[in-house]
Amino acid sequence: MSSIQSFPCFTVLFDAIANDLREHGYSIQDKALPQEWIDGLLRDMRTLGAGQLKPAGVGRAQQHVANASIRRDAISWIESTEGAQGQWLAFSAQLQRHLNRSLMLGLFSFESHFAHYAPGAFYKTHVDAFKGQANRVLSVVLYLNPAWVCADGGEMVLYSDTAPGTVLCKVSPNAGTLAVFLSEDFPHEVLPALRDRYSIAGWYRVNTSNTGRVDPPA
Ligand code: OGA
Ligand code: MN
Repeated sequence: MSSIQSFPCFTVLFDAIANDLREHGYSIQDKALPQEWIDGLLRDMRTLGAGQLKPAGVGRAQQHVANASIRRDAISWIESTEGAQGQWLAFSAQLQRHLNRSLMLGLFSFESHFAHYAPGAFYKTHVDAFKGQANRVLSVVLYLNPAWVCADGGEMVLYSDTAPGTVLCKVSPNAGTLAVFLSEDFPHEVLPALRDRYSIAGWYRVNTSNTGRVDPPA
């Protein structure tokens, strides 16, 4: 057997995501990534050292503060291009190319972090980008939790932007489920869970520069 692993073909998945985004602005896909990748990412997350997961913050740049009344997760940015994290970054780059071709989104860069919600942790309703700032354009969340059941709680609730308070869908953070949505358009929240909840949250950005200067990620 060859030790070189072939990269799976995601064309059908990417087309489904593109169609959903075009029609609804969001897409929820079960079993989006190979199980071994999910297992590898969960293993990586669980072996992060105590100092590597930091309380997540709220707000940008100078206003960035840890605000435990809004969110209680702990995060670690994904930088490694090795192993499961490398596979995740390669997957994200392929999705970026596909969506740029099919939807002309002009996605320019990608950033993502692991997130751990301890039992009881939550993230209150928020949007990932503010309208007009054209900063974060597309949000993705990948869930890593095997055998998640309803009674565990911890759903991500996606709300309508135009009909405040209207629930569009509730996403169970089950291993392999991928949520993709337009960052400006969907207020969402993470409900408290009864067990540890592991996920990856990521964002595609556009280059908003019009003066020849590339915006650094905030
Ligand atoms: C976020 C977020 C959702 C989730 O990190 O901005 O909304 O289900 N995460 O983890
Ligand atoms: Mn969010």
